[in-house]
Amino acid sequence: MTVCRTMLVLALASSIFPAMSVAADDLPAFEALPVIKEFPDPLVTLDGARITTKEQWEAKRRPELKHLFQHYMYGYFPSAPERITAKVVAEDKNYLGGKATKKLVNIAFGPEGCPTIDLLLVIPNTRQGTGGRAPCFVGLNFNGNHTTTDDPTIPLAKGWMRPGAGVKDNKATDAGRGTSAGRWEFENAIDQGFAVATFYYGDVVPDKNDRNAGAFPFFRPAGQKEAGPHEWSAIGAWAYGIHRAVDYLTSDSDIDAKHIFALGHSRNGKAALLAAAFDDRIAGVVANMAGCGGSGPSRNQNPKAETVKRINTSFPHWFCDTFKAFNDQTEKLPFDQHCLVAICAPRPVLFTAAEQDQWANPDGQHQVLIAANPVYALYGLKGIDPSEKADFNKLLGTTLHYHYDPGKHAVTKAHWDVYIRFAKLHMKASK
Ligand code: GCU
Repeated sequence: MTVCRTMLVLALASSIFPAMSVAADDLPAFEALPVIKEFPDPLVTLDGARITTKEQWEAKRRPELKHLFQHYMYGYFPSAPERITAKVVAEDKNYLGGKATKKLVNIAFGPEGCPTIDLLLVIPNTRQGTGGRAPCFVGLNFNGNHTTTDDPTIPLAKGWMRPGAGVKDNKATDAGRGTSAGRWEFENAIDQGFAVATFYYGDVVPDKNDRNAGAFPFFRPAGQKEAGPHEWSAIGAWAYGIHRAVDYLTSDSDIDAKHIFALGHSRNGKAALLAAAFDDRIAGVVANMAGCGGSGPSRNQNPKAETVKRINTSFPHWFCDTFKAFNDQTEKLPFDQHCLVAICAPRPVLFTAAEQDQWANPDGQHQVLIAANPVYALYGLKGIDPSEKADFNKLLGTTLHYHYDPGKHAVTKAHWDVYIRFAKLHMKASK
């Protein structure tokens, strides 16, 4: 492996997080919010105005929804850093028998002392994307880059880790190497022309109930010691990490910046969907069995599915503190998850669900996609046909896609085949 020390200091466009149209304090307190039994109409603004054009949607309702999701659920993202420093610390141009190039990239995005992201990037050496560059999937992994492949040269993840394969005293060890390789189909993606980028979600903030850990304290105003009620949460922080990976990827001349697809499984699928909603550089998103707090509805009708109360109790750090007010009254939310999908319009979205994963609410996820249709229609796009029945291993939809399988809560080769099919479909559509 060639070790190189390319250092890139990337100045970033400040347009990723456009100024919000309403000040935080202008939003109603929980008590003042009306009860809305069904999914709220994505095309009616908080003050009751109806949106009929994509111009109105983009000028008024889309920014309003971004504001609402941050205020009541995920917490406010800090602004994008003015610059990140990305160091390519290792590069192997002869990876996977010469089919691919592997890069290890360290991305610093916060002030001195803030944790950094270690991105593993595998790129096909035969490029088919725009300008001879490779389209790319980017997603978080649960247990460190060293678990995504058997490659012994990948450094162990540095940060705090939940108990799991090869984890000792909340630290990664060599015993974890390759234990999640089945979830990361690098070679399959490479053979079909796609690059894959991944990093450990705990590189940004650890997955534990400590709002003073990881990157959190580095993004607070001076003197503030504890998380505020609308401060970003772990899912927000992981999504922010994906944005920083995209900062790097859009600067890498091997990557087709127009075709970067975010993907993620379960909690990391929630973060991937949020990341796509808040960053238009992401061309499309795959949320694999993300469920409650991501692709699953908060107004839950499935008795076997996770509820807002349950998720807020088991994982209090995933959402901002304000979200807990909705534990027993989800009908007071001024949005549901279809509005998060709608924010992604006109970009494609894929939800993959499984019959044995009722916890993530397969039918609820399907309904969430259908309810985003009216916003895609503003762009002249068919989202997903509500009359088309979900059937095992069938990819439903035109821009909003649903895929249902008979299996469990998992990521398999068959799922990757669907992700790749989805991405290819939309690359063709955008040519
Ligand atoms: C738990 C949690 C889910 C989450 C899942 C995961 O089951 O309740 O919300 O999606 O973990 O991330 O694996």
